[in-house]
Amino acid sequence: MTTPPATSGFDPDLFDRILVVDFGAQYAQLIARRVREAHVYSEIVPHTITAAEVAERSPAGIILSGGPKSVHVDGAPQLDPAIYDLGVPVLGICYGAQLVASQLGGEVSRTGRGEYGRTELRTVGTGGVLLGDGLPEVRPVWMSHFDSIVTPPDGFVVTATTDDAPVAALEDPQRRIMGVQFHPEVVHTANGQDVFTRFLYKVCGCRPNWTMTSIIETAVDAVRAQVGTGRVICGLSGGVDSAVAAALVHKAIGSQLTCVFVDTGLLRKGEAEQVVETFRRSQGIELIHVQASDRFFQKLAGITEPETKRKAIGEQFIRVFEEASGGITDARFLVQGTLYPDVIESGTSEAARIKSHHNVGGLPDDMEFELIEPLRALFKDEVRRVGEELGLPPDIVWRQPFPGPGLGVRIIGEVTPDKVATLQEADAIVREEIRRAGLEREIWQAFAVLPDIRTVGVMGDERTYAYPIVIRAVTSEDAMTADWARLPYDLLERMSNRIINEVPGVNRIAYDITSKPPGTIEWE
Ligand code: XMP
Repeated sequence: MTTPPATSGFDPDLFDRILVVDFGAQYAQLIARRVREAHVYSEIVPHTITAAEVAERSPAGIILSGGPKSVHVDGAPQLDPAIYDLGVPVLGICYGAQLVASQLGGEVSRTGRGEYGRTELRTVGTGGVLLGDGLPEVRPVWMSHFDSIVTPPDGFVVTATTDDAPVAALEDPQRRIMGVQFHPEVVHTANGQDVFTRFLYKVCGCRPNWTMTSIIETAVDAVRAQVGTGRVICGLSGGVDSAVAAALVHKAIGSQLTCVFVDTGLLRKGEAEQVVETFRRSQGIELIHVQASDRFFQKLAGITEPETKRKAIGEQFIRVFEEASGGITDARFLVQGTLYPDVIESGTSEAARIKSHHNVGGLPDDMEFELIEPLRALFKDEVRRVGEELGLPPDIVWRQPFPGPGLGVRIIGEVTPDKVATLQEADAIVREEIRRAGLEREIWQAFAVLPDIRTVGVMGDERTYAYPIVIRAVTSEDAMTADWARLPYDLLERMSNRIINEVPGVNRIAYDITSKPPGTIEWE
């Protein structure tokens, strides 16, 4: 078995770069996204990064994120102090601001009065470069801290204060090192984005070149340079990541790309037709469409245990994919829709594996390909905007996440063609009603589940004994945690009536009101 080299299909050196140092709170990704929304490229790095490693990356500026610890506890994460001497501007946020203060000789103390949530910020003096110059002198900001900076280090001026934080913002204009105790990255902070744009443009002198056009241009150039005249394969799953990756690679190398789409029979209603229509007809991409549902149903016969089911679907997928792509004997490259959060996650944390998320559409691990990963530097919202820019239909670009094993993990018990047909109809109604209610982009995922039980009902004068359908709708930022969506009762009622009236074999509807944890988003 050969492990293919991970290449990037993207050259970050073409952009001004901001390093976001991750101190372990959930805010680092949000900060990195805010920087990019201001059209500057950002990268997340661990707080153990050394001054030499920072210098190697030649950043235009450094932002220190918040973190869950107090600077006073043993083992509180530190920053290599030599980083402050590199001459690169530094902005500390929350924990990052306290770290700047304590590492450079100021005083951070336990005042006994923390601040959480909305707080009134008042500028002091001119308000400095980040907070002054025409911005309101009093404004609401979002706080979440216990310790407070009480004395700034030498060379720093205090630029804002609150009732409980005497030093809510500080700046050293000489060394271009600054800090804010509040969270400018959260939407509740007024003028939060101004803090970033001022730091990026006035302090770091960045150029606003992180735009959709430049992202696409650099990715196209990188793919061309990597591939030359070689042939490339891309597995399409119907999801947004593989779709955008394929469209991007196609823009770069046109007919050198062949896409393989395996129809497992476990997709949502109308999905297979839409993939073929979009890629073959609208985008003009060469597409091998393998209709393999019979093979999947055969493999799934008699299997009820969730992980065995996932494994069976994953293995079957790889077999079919290999057969289809094996015909393209001269292909050396394989496109993967890896995103930046996947890269961060595999580099910095070891998330517990609760389900074997076999990424169907993923890489058969005994095939010898060089990888092309044109989305490796992008967040999901950026991938969607690239997709729109490349002319993919909104239906695909704004599609909600869908598990690789498809409806196979939404049918409890044995998966049969009849059950898939029932679930597809019910699921289409759920999604259509969510769309009509204008909630599609607000809801992380909304779908139907078919449990392996039947219940008694009465329709007309007849007793029925049929399947229930469970509606599942959740809100989430990243699928790691989720809350059940508070859907309006009339919307739930419409879904319920329509499913019972329009889908034969269903006589009862339940709504899943479990958050994650303790539940998971999917039922299997
Ligand atoms: P859970 O159910 O673990 O799901 O809360 C979290 C997110 O992952 C998706 N999911 C999968 N995706 N293969 C995938 O590619 C899988 O086997 C799989 N299982 C769950 C799920 O839809 C949700 O977005």
